[in-house]
Amino acid sequence: MTKQYANIVVSDTQTPNGLPILKGSIGPDAVDVRTLLGRQNLLTYDPGFRSTASCESAITYIDGEAGQLLYRGYPIEELATRCGFSEVAHLLMYGELPASEQLSGFQCKINEYNLLHDQVLSFYHGFRRDAHPMAVMVGVVGALSAFYQDSQDYSRDEDQHKAAIRLVAKMPAIAAASYTYSIGRPIRHPDNNLDYASNFLQMMFGKPNEPYHVDPVLARAIEMIFILHADHEQNASTSTVRMAASSGANPFACVASGIATLWGPAHGGANEAVLTMLEDIGSPDRIPEIVRRAKDKNDPFRLMGFGHRVYRNYDPRAALIRDTTRQVLAHLGMENSPLMATALELERVALEDDYFIEKKLYPNVDFYSGILLRAMGFPSRMFTAVFAVARTVGWVSHWLELKQQAGHGIDRPRQLYTGPTLRHLDK
Ligand code: SDX
Repeated sequence: MTKQYANIVVSDTQTPNGLPILKGSIGPDAVDVRTLLGRQNLLTYDPGFRSTASCESAITYIDGEAGQLLYRGYPIEELATRCGFSEVAHLLMYGELPASEQLSGFQCKINEYNLLHDQVLSFYHGFRRDAHPMAVMVGVVGALSAFYQDSQDYSRDEDQHKAAIRLVAKMPAIAAASYTYSIGRPIRHPDNNLDYASNFLQMMFGKPNEPYHVDPVLARAIEMIFILHADHEQNASTSTVRMAASSGANPFACVASGIATLWGPAHGGANEAVLTMLEDIGSPDRIPEIVRRAKDKNDPFRLMGFGHRVYRNYDPRAALIRDTTRQVLAHLGMENSPLMATALELERVALEDDYFIEKKLYPNVDFYSGILLRAMGFPSRMFTAVFAVARTVGWVSHWLELKQQAGHGIDRPRQLYTGPTLRHLDK
């Protein structure tokens, strides 16, 4: 092994045409193509980035074949069942699980910044009551760029970390307000006697005319949802945040671009689409028709909540959410939920079908999360908003990491041009 740059190691072997091969700590090696255009006048062609490492990162690792997900090296199963959300957020943002005094300091910072400026609250009144929560969140989070003039020098570590904490701290209130505003209920403020997950529930479901009692089973369930959705390496929305950040854009604007990307039904919007699909199916006896449609190349219908660009195995998050969903349904006396029965039968049928087996299509994080959130009282339009609250931790973690990666420069891909060659206007 020879010279290192950043934390990447250059292998002693090269490609047949002399390109260096780079090694990370785990995962596939990468061909260093940075000199390809200059030395061989060649581009790489990889629409959808199926075989492209867009950056170096030390935050999250996914082994798609094994169905393994690590946050800073820790398996998601251990973090989701043994840690709190604040601990996992600290791990993703700063690289290590916090010691107890670090944890209380982190939680104090979250509590210091979780209120929304009164003028931010006025933005909500500019939206229609029936605006989709994700449309509201894109607007409100982007508008935060116009605040905090005293700490917008993002070349300074202090301002970087203040912006990151502000985003994580404020997202639950921003998301909850997009729901309460839509139903005409007064927007609620955080209660710093509650932890992050419980605070979100009270801002979502608390009423001004009666005390709100946090159900510990539901609080733990939403905390599990937050942990499982917190980060997922270079997914579409995180890649968008990193690309926006590479231009030096304001972090609130960068996260707003991530929210916009997450909203897509091929990405975070799938949890809402899964519930619509399960409701359309209605009962298990319509499943064979649905599976046939999902396999039909001439039918644009896809099994929502199934398949993944990286996982060629069961998404470990889906298994954890399925088990939590069963626990919450039993806790709420809804163990005979027809939605859950349809989902379990659909999973069973699909996983026994050659089409899904050959293409290695398994349930992903979105397949069961909607059933769980619906049982907890969330309207389906809020499912992706919940995902966005959680993924804000990942987005700011990658934003902080990129700010530390000196020399990364602006992300500026090229293209394979197939348009008209040079031509001139008629005389
Ligand atoms: C998330 O990237 C991340 O990490 C995302 C995420 C995160 O935490 O950030 O994990 C969150 O976005 C999960 C994915 C949520 N989306 C869905 O559930 C929507 C349904 N899934 C598909 O649209 C699809 O599986 C994707 C978008 C998730 C992945 O698409 P790819 O990798 O581009 O795969 P593909 O479209 O090339 O499909 C490969 C083959 C195709 O058949 P062929 O053309 O090879 O014959 O598999 C088929 C597809 O038709 N296929 C499906 C299918 N998904 C893929 N067929 C039916 N139903 C499906 N769901």
